[in-house]
Amino acid sequence: MKPSLVSAWTAAYFLALSQSVSGKDCVCELKNLQRPFPTEKLDTILTEASQCNRSITSSQITEVDVLMLGVQRRLDQLEKSVSVLENEDDGDLYGAVSLRIIELELAEVQVLLGKLKNTIKSNKQLSEITATKLQNMTEGMQELEGFDLSYVVSKQQENRRMKRQLAECQQELHTTPQTPTLHPRRCPQGQLVNVNGPRTYGLTQYGTSYSYGAWGKDPKPAPGKEGMYWLVALTRSNAYANFVRHYSSLSTILGGVGPVDSPISSSNPSTNTIVGPNVVQYGDALYYGCYNTPSVCRFNISTRTVTKTPLPQNSGFNNKFPFGHLDATYIYTDLDFATDESGVWVVYTTPDNFGNVILSEVLEGSPPSLGRSWRTSLHKRTATNTFMACGVLYATRFLDKQTEEIFYSFDTETMEERYDLKIHLKKMQTNIQSLNYNPRDRMLYAYSNSYIVSYYAVFQ
Ligand SMILES: *[C@@H]1O[C@H](CO)[C@@H](O)[C@H](O)[C@H]1NC(C)=O
Ligand SMILES: *[C@@H]1O[C@H](CO)[C@@H](O)[C@H](O)[C@H]1NC(C)=O
Ligand SMILES: *[C@@H]1O[C@H](CO)[C@@H](O)[C@H](O)[C@H]1NC(C)=O
Repeated sequence: MKPSLVSAWTAAYFLALSQSVSGKDCVCELKNLQRPFPTEKLDTILTEASQCNRSITSSQITEVDVLMLGVQRRLDQLEKSVSVLENEDDGDLYGAVSLRIIELELAEVQVLLGKLKNTIKSNKQLSEITATKLQNMTEGMQELEGFDLSYVVSKQQENRRMKRQLAECQQELHTTPQTPTLHPRRCPQGQLVNVNGPRTYGLTQYGTSYSYGAWGKDPKPAPGKEGMYWLVALTRSNAYANFVRHYSSLSTILGGVGPVDSPISSSNPSTNTIVGPNVVQYGDALYYGCYNTPSVCRFNISTRTVTKTPLPQNSGFNNKFPFGHLDATYIYTDLDFATDESGVWVVYTTPDNFGNVILSEVLEGSPPSLGRSWRTSLHKRTATNTFMACGVLYATRFLDKQTEEIFYSFDTETMEERYDLKIHLKKMQTNIQSLNYNPRDRMLYAYSNSYIVSYYAVFQ
């Protein structure tokens, strides 16, 4: 045997290879240089362990439970009997009988309590003895491990410990919620919990001519335009518009008095035409879906110029991925613009996200551009509209003619998606063509079958 192989053996053994003088016999001598393994000691510990196991049986443990249950039942009975006695004691025979019953019940409880006391005492003794024995066995095993020169046992133990830690680690990974993000929340007012209203409800100067449109207030108004309201009615085929109208106050928009029009394109539809009802005004500019191209258009109200930025390739436009309910859709609602505390957002979808909502930030630079994007699991066609508040996307669905329900939310900070929101919007008309939140006055502005409606958003 080669020396390298010998050294691979445990050092506890000494191997001697000798050849006898005759040259015929080969003798291999194996000498153990160590103390012999104390097999008897291991046997003793094993015996003690099984004795220990037998002395603490589960029946001893359940005995206590059974006794406790017995005491509990008797005490309940006793209580009932006492109240019977209290109610029926006429100082007569009946009272005496009840009292006798109570005496008997009390005696039974005392017997049970005595038994319980003894059981607990003996269990306590048993557990003390067992603890001593266990300590003794542990020490014995540690001593025996000293013979484990190739560290088989200790390595196995180490492996077991590591496996346990791994399992615990995996467990923690599954149970601990996502670590809270350190970003400050976009808004201190918390989560949307309710919507009150309608606050305002009325027709515009168009009467019932145009059932698709949008209105609202600029959350970041130009100086001097803080009280203004904007209105866009889709004046062509419920799909297109080529100007935005401004009113100085709520009463003038409801009364149709003194509007100021800002033309965006000369004809309707054509290049720069507004497509779809879900437009917003922010920072004195109108954000809307561009004509015949999947892009975000921005109309600068003071300079009356349009700049644009494309959405990702294959994004829906021209009525490909509209909002909907039941078997109906809200035509040309491929793009939905939203405003909240942090700015402007756009909701749209693509075939590679299976028609599920994609949310992107719209950055204000010149020209506008897209910021971060989030892919959600919300199928766009199952929602009637969306809006943003505090970095959370909310979606609505059609419940019935009187009620629209905010049922879905997607938090852009935690990525938490919920389908169990049950915030109801009281409708005055059957459908809501556009819905948007204004972080400045915390109002929701809706355009509903030619009517302009507003609601008050309630936060936690
Ligand atoms: C102790 O008892 C339990 C259940 O009766 C059994 O599964 C276990 O193997 C026993 N252990 C020993 C060391 O005898
Ligand atoms: C502890 O173990 C030793 C043998 O390892 C034995 O002689 C002794 O009686 C044990 N003590 C108790 C309290 O079990
Ligand atoms: C609109 O145009 C003016 C003048 O160029 C500019 O100062 C302003 O920032 C523009 N607004 C937006 C939202 O781009």
